[in-house]
Amino acid sequence: MLTAAFAFSALLVSARAQLAGTLKTETHPSLTVSTCTSSGCRTQAASIVIDANWRWLHNKVGYTNCYTGNEFNTTVCPDGKACAQNCMLEGADYSGVYGITTSGNSLKLNFVTKGENTNVGSRTYLMAPGSQTKYQMLKLMNQEFTFDVDVSNLPCGLNGALYFSEMAEDGGMAKSATNKAGAKFGTGYCDAQCPRDIKFINGEANSVGWEPSANDKNAGGGKYGSCCTEMDIWEANSISTAYTPHPCSGSGLVRCEGTDCGIGARYSALCDADGCDFNSYRMGDTEFYGPGKTIDTNKKMTVVTQFISTDGTANGDLKEIKRFYVQNGVTFANSQSMIEGVSGNSITDEFCTAQKSAFGDMTAFTDKGGLKTMGKAIKNGMVLVMSIWDDHTANMLWLNSPYPPDKDPSAPGVSRGSCSADSGKPEVVESESASASVTFSNVKWGPIGSTFKALAAGSTGKFRKM
Ligand SMILES: *[C@@H]1O[C@H](CO)[C@@H](O)[C@H](O)[C@H]1NC(C)=O
Repeated sequence: MLTAAFAFSALLVSARAQLAGTLKTETHPSLTVSTCTSSGCRTQAASIVIDANWRWLHNKVGYTNCYTGNEFNTTVCPDGKACAQNCMLEGADYSGVYGITTSGNSLKLNFVTKGENTNVGSRTYLMAPGSQTKYQMLKLMNQEFTFDVDVSNLPCGLNGALYFSEMAEDGGMAKSATNKAGAKFGTGYCDAQCPRDIKFINGEANSVGWEPSANDKNAGGGKYGSCCTEMDIWEANSISTAYTPHPCSGSGLVRCEGTDCGIGARYSALCDADGCDFNSYRMGDTEFYGPGKTIDTNKKMTVVTQFISTDGTANGDLKEIKRFYVQNGVTFANSQSMIEGVSGNSITDEFCTAQKSAFGDMTAFTDKGGLKTMGKAIKNGMVLVMSIWDDHTANMLWLNSPYPPDKDPSAPGVSRGSCSADSGKPEVVESESASASVTFSNVKWGPIGSTFKALAAGSTGKFRKM
């Protein structure tokens, strides 16, 4: 479960440092979202921004590259501070270079986009309505989050992800004086994998000790990682889906090094890299989600996630993360666990403990504080991330195939989907599935019950246990 093993897979010749470039105006694609109350939903004009890592990073004088392929230019980047002073992040050509388009409330992310360079994947963040410089902060305790997704064009090995990361509202500008670009240029990313492929962390380049990736011509990794609590609402393709809280010790973005990043010691990291996942297939219901299945991935669907608190208010602790689907006007409760010793169709601390035990998995989720710690980030506010990616670390097998590969696929918890054990190799999917895409739309949030109509149990034969 490298749940978000974000091997940075974009490429691009260069991105300008943590200074803000002016060669190309940064224009965020508009995206409407809805905020709801018990009396209805209101449309808001927001926008999205692409992450800084994907951008051209160039010298402030002369526009030569500060980063090319998967290496920093050591002339302008002798160390992290100098690099931040010398280099600028440039505005993005969203559709032409990155294959990102929006229309109304819909965002489409294409997988491979060929131009002067070949772009692979992208990662975008939701900006606050009306703002060019601040991310939308979602504080969803005792609330629900709903979106529509079309995964029909996402085969094995790809991941169209929608999730929350505990990033700073301004992308880290206030915290680091050397970050002059901020949220407007998509800075400040972090997640529970403590990724080390991030080119700038806390306003300094991660150029020290940067090593080009052995199997990704656009990525590498530095000495530092960028850790923070992550709530995976949706990691999915047309075959499998999982939702997964990943708590971390520490609040907001923490720059790690060594074992704190999990280097050589996955379970010594500041974050729970495994998370507590609910993947219907892995939990034993292999007929629930997929092409032609109960939730038919050939068609668009609505995904609802509720953050239930201990006291029924926004001040309580997080006690449950509940999932529903709506398709063709029918509401479906999440599938029930069919694993011996694990009951329920929802994420609670009890579910997580039972699941880890049944699968023989490590207990990092509980060790990092479980749902209560996850709930702290939900209350502090998290940034909405929408991305499309392939996996240079584990071929996405943790999502849609038997994993780990050395275990018996029939052992509990090993099989996560019907994709083969040799699927998902980046060099294969990037050529054979280059035209893959994911479309997210109709993003809404508000109090429990405000964003979708839950049909009363029994009102339709298709309604499943809620
Ligand atoms: C590195 O930066 C220097 C100074 O701007 C420049 O002259 C050189 O061409 C750059 N190297 C590459 C490979 O871009």
